[in-house]
Amino acid sequence: MDIKVEAGDITQHNAKAIIVNLFEGVTRPGGGTGAVDKALGGGISQLIAEGEIKGKAAEFTMIHTLGRIPSPRVLVAGLGKQDSFRLNNIRNLMGTALRRIRATGAKSAATIVHGAGIAGLDPEACAQAIAEGAIMGAYRFRKYKFNGDDSSTDVETLSIVEQDKTKLAALRRGVERGVILGTAACHTRDMANEPANGLPPKEMAARAQALAKDAGLECEVLDEKKLKELGMGALLGVSAGSAQPPRFIIIKYRGKPAGKKTLGLLGKGITFDSGGISIKPAAGMEAMKGDMSGGAAIISTMWAIGKLKPKVNVTALIPASENMPGGNATKPGDVLRTMNGKTIEVINTDAEGRLILADAICYANKEGLSPIVDVATLTGAMQIALGPGATGFMSTEDSLADAINAAGEASGEKMWRFPLIADYKEGMKSNVADIKNTGNRHGGAINAAEFLRYFVEDTPWVHIDMAGTDDSDKEKGVWVKGSTGIPTRTLIHFVLGHAAKG
Ligand code: BES
Ligand code: MN
Ligand code: ZN
Repeated sequence: MDIKVEAGDITQHNAKAIIVNLFEGVTRPGGGTGAVDKALGGGISQLIAEGEIKGKAAEFTMIHTLGRIPSPRVLVAGLGKQDSFRLNNIRNLMGTALRRIRATGAKSAATIVHGAGIAGLDPEACAQAIAEGAIMGAYRFRKYKFNGDDSSTDVETLSIVEQDKTKLAALRRGVERGVILGTAACHTRDMANEPANGLPPKEMAARAQALAKDAGLECEVLDEKKLKELGMGALLGVSAGSAQPPRFIIIKYRGKPAGKKTLGLLGKGITFDSGGISIKPAAGMEAMKGDMSGGAAIISTMWAIGKLKPKVNVTALIPASENMPGGNATKPGDVLRTMNGKTIEVINTDAEGRLILADAICYANKEGLSPIVDVATLTGAMQIALGPGATGFMSTEDSLADAINAAGEASGEKMWRFPLIADYKEGMKSNVADIKNTGNRHGGAINAAEFLRYFVEDTPWVHIDMAGTDDSDKEKGVWVKGSTGIPTRTLIHFVLGHAAKG
């Protein structure tokens, strides 16, 4: 989809559909909606008077203009109550609007700048939200459909139409950022939606290299031989049961002189989680093709950072592996040794994410990366705790937790802080090794975090457990069925905020 900003009068635009809006309770629309209403001889006001259009959030009314204006369709999007209106309403509105318009067969759409009228939001931020929402809402994964490459039903162009020429430059800046953020989330979705047979670790590494190259970044991929040399026994132990060799993906972005502290972004890259010898039940196992979503979000974040070029240094580390029950698989009771020499007794081979992350954290500490932010579909317990409405995280520092919450607020991906509880490490005491890979069943998400903290040691750290939010079973606003792309945009905002702090 090509998104452009144009000067002009929306009532005269010849797109196949134009998008206007209405706040709940407004009976005489103003601004662009008012102009379209007038051009339609009061058609919108009449539908309001008849009670068909109420302006409620997520209410959409398609009006056929029958030659009264150049565009054949007007889509009136309800904005809901004015006092609860936020930028995220604009993203969701555009997501749904694009799917509605696509369903009519229209190839072109035009929109007014939602939010910049009586809501009084910053026009640049509104334009960014429009672009981001349109891209995310129009996303489809249809590579494996019979007519997979057929894009003939896509909306090809979206014009943002503004009469005030003094606003155009700001709107264009907003669109540029919105396109990068929305596209980054869709890169994550493309990787997470890809079935495991299409995305073994070596293919995940190839995707990382292609995206890094596109953003002008360095990407190094370590193979099994190198992982053995480094002593990454936990990552190798997880991959041992698979015919697919593991990879360790390293992407670097340098926006500052060397020698300054480098932020470490780590992502779980389990390209399929069968559970290993502690095998999962059959029902729902197919969802475990998405167990690399954390790693995918990190790769896409680096792509966006390469495009946005903030003044910060970032190194991304993604351990990628399958978790399979093959003949060489790690067995319950086996002991693995991580890169820094610590030993882990594997009680449950299905607690594999924390194992591969342990080696990644060791690598990050050896490189002196700080703070460390790791992102993982780590525990079913987190999914049970929060459901799909918020992503849980833990942090050793209040300032980092505040930054993550603020980044989630900026992206529209709600984040919710959980506690770290040091006592729970007691439950991971092993008779034979330094630590066991599982603790008590209760507080499973916190146990997993405490396991990771044993490897993080004193480095300032954030752990994001996105097990409940990595995919969606509903189509709603910016979300479509399948991968959500969470927390890609939150991470991008976090890195930009981190850069701004210097
Ligand atoms: N990948 C799963 C966690 C998961 C569950 C992600 C549901 C997305 C949706 C993880 O590797 C796992 O299996 N965790 C176990 C840990 C347990 C064995 C201690 C879990 O949460 O059941
Ligand atoms: Mn598992
Ligand atoms: Zn897993």
